[in-house]
Amino acid sequence: MPLSLAEMRRSYTLNGLQDEAALDDPLTLFRQWMQQARDTECAPIEANSMMLATVDSEGSPHCRVLLLKGLSDEGFTFFGNYQSDKGRQLAGNPNAAMTFFWPGLERQVRIEGQVSKLQARLSDAYFESRSEASRLGAWASPQSRPLANRAALESLMADTITRFVDQPVPRPEHWGGYCLHPQRLEFWQGRADRLHDRIDYRLQNGVWFRNRLAP
Ligand SMILES: Cc1cc2nc3c(=O)[nH]c(=O)nc-3n(C[C@H](O)[C@H](O)[C@H](O)COP(=O)(O)O)c2cc1C
Repeated sequence: MPLSLAEMRRSYTLNGLQDEAALDDPLTLFRQWMQQARDTECAPIEANSMMLATVDSEGSPHCRVLLLKGLSDEGFTFFGNYQSDKGRQLAGNPNAAMTFFWPGLERQVRIEGQVSKLQARLSDAYFESRSEASRLGAWASPQSRPLANRAALESLMADTITRFVDQPVPRPEHWGGYCLHPQRLEFWQGRADRLHDRIDYRLQNGVWFRNRLAP
C-alpha cells in the first residue's frame, strides 16, 4: 500500500528572523534559540537532540540522533563510543554536520565543521556526572556491533556489573566526548507562504560573515 504524505503541510507563522535580530555572533544567537527551545519543547530531551551526519571512507553519509551536551567558545560537544560506526567515521574524516529541528518554534539550525576528540579530563568529568547504569552501559555495549539477540546484551551488562561490583566505574578509553568546531551555521525560521528566513554565517579568518539565503 503506497504511503502518500503529499497533503501534509502547514503554514509557519509563529516567528520571523529579521536581519537586525541576526546577531554578529552566531553562537550567541544559537544560545538564545536553544534557551527558547528548552522553554518551548514538551520535554527537555527534545531541545538538545540533533542529527549528526558523518561520512565513511567511501564517501557515504550516515546520520543519527545524538544529544548535544554543551557549547563553549570551542564548539558543540557530544559524547559516544569512539569505536562505534560514528567514531570510526570521525577518525577517518573529521568533517561533520549537525541539524537541530525545533518544531514548536518552527526553527532549524544547521551547523558544519570539523570534529575533534575532547580532552580526556573533560570526558572524565562528564562521565562521572552520568548515572551508574549509564557508566556500566558504556563498558557493556560494543556500540554498533552486531548482537546475537537481546539476551546477549543483557548478559554483557550482567558481566559488567559483576566486574565492577563494589568499585568505582572509570571511563573506558573507548568512550568519550567530541567537539564540533563550527565553520558554518544557518538559522532557519519558518514564515508564511514558504518565504522562510535563512541567515547563514561563515567563519573566515576568525571572523563570522553573515548572508541571507533564499528559502
Ligand atoms: C533521542 C536520542 C538521543 C541519543 N543520544 C545519543 C548520544 O548522546 N550519544 C550516542 O552515542 N548515541 C545516542 N543516541 C543513539 C544514536 O542515535 C545511535 O544509535 C548510536 O550513537 C550509534 O550510532 P552509530 O552506529 O552510527 O555510531 C541517541 C538516540 C536518540 C533517539
